[in-house]
Amino acid sequence: MSTIDHARVVHEATAVYDCLAAPVPHGIAALQAWLVDRIKRAAIRRLHDSRRGEQLLLRMYLAGEEATEQALHEELMPQPPAWLARQVEQHLADERRHAQAFAEALRATGASSTVRLAPDWVSRRKIVRWQRLARRHAPHFSSGLLVPAYATGLCAEQMAERVLRRHCEVIGTAHAMYPLLSGVLEDERRHVRLCARTLQHVVASHEQERLARLLAEIRAIEAGFGVTGALAMYAAGWLHSLSGGRQVGSRSPVVHR
Ligand SMILES: [Fe+2]
Ligand SMILES: [Fe+2]
Repeated sequence: MSTIDHARVVHEATAVYDCLAAPVPHGIAALQAWLVDRIKRAAIRRLHDSRRGEQLLLRMYLAGEEATEQALHEELMPQPPAWLARQVEQHLADERRHAQAFAEALRATGASSTVRLAPDWVSRRKIVRWQRLARRHAPHFSSGLLVPAYATGLCAEQMAERVLRRHCEVIGTAHAMYPLLSGVLEDERRHVRLCARTLQHVVASHEQERLARLLAEIRAIEAGFGVTGALAMYAAGWLHSLSGGRQVGSRSPVVHR
């Protein structure tokens, strides 16, 4: 291979892998992302003011872990190829461990039950649209549904990473929930790398452009729900503080900062 050809191959490979990284928003999208982040930080602070608020946060994480597991693996990829089976099993085991850890934390706050919260309307709509998108793009990849499943998985793991990083920053390292959240955050970072590596492995070079388009569409759906989700979260925090949760929270064994 000539030097020019080699340079072209390296450039193309880099361009493809660029689309795997979480994009940095610009213009209006950057403003929207900033707004969503501000609202969610305020909501987290408010929810931590009460025990019931903290229970709601834990229930949301619990529902999120279970929805991710169900949507990405049981429905989109019920039969992973043999070479991937072990990786998928390990990934699912991590997500189940996260769900268990959130359920235990919920019990530790004195929650009378750890009854699963069904994913909220916003999350359900988002998952349905992601699944529809996956089925539309699957026939265009030689690895079929595996590519949209991992592309959606990548975006969901990047979202989990962003959500948990924000939460850890808001509560700080001295908070009682920090070890749980930062531990899950480390795992989600590992899952982001895992999904990116798998996509690099299963996407053929002539399918790279289609992958970039698929990722852009997955992220557009996520961004479309960003403000609605943030406002719903803020409203939940506001309702919990209105219902007198602050008093209860002052007796909570959870350390507040
Ligand atoms: Fe998880
Ligand atoms: Fe994960």
